[in-house]
Amino acid sequence: MKQDSLDEVLQSNDLDVMHLNDDHKDIFNYINRLQKIAEQPNDFEYAIIILERLTSFFVEHVIKEELLLQKYLPAQLVRDHALLHQDELAQLDNSLALLKKQLTSDTIHTVVERLKREFTYHICRSDRKIMLELIKHQKSKKHYH
Ligand SMILES: [Fe+2]
Ligand SMILES: [Fe+2]
Repeated sequence: MKQDSLDEVLQSNDLDVMHLNDDHKDIFNYINRLQKIAEQPNDFEYAIIILERLTSFFVEHVIKEELLLQKYLPAQLVRDHALLHQDELAQLDNSLALLKKQLTSDTIHTVVERLKREFTYHICRSDRKIMLELIKHQKSKKHYH
């Protein structure tokens, strides 16, 4: 997972963009905590709490992200990106349902792998791409006004 690339690419002075970038790092931190819990049978129940927290954190995050995108980018682009967020939310819901049904080291590992794959793809590719697009639009707007 190349999280460092987030810092490297998103060199922006815009506070909102920096804030979203911090959120992205926090999302990976939640997943890493979940991974540690998979090795600690006495703490399995925390896996559900962490996943619930990650879900609310992600809901707040996508609201902020979509609002910022709407300010600068064409509506269709924002709608397409918002659809990807719906996929992530569905993954989080399914993961929570799985853990509530069967809370074992194996199911926690399954969830961790699923979320790592999903969020690495979303954050390191889709978000990165759309943030670069956003920065470009912000710059050109500043330039013309
Ligand atoms: Fe994001
Ligand atoms: Fe996103």
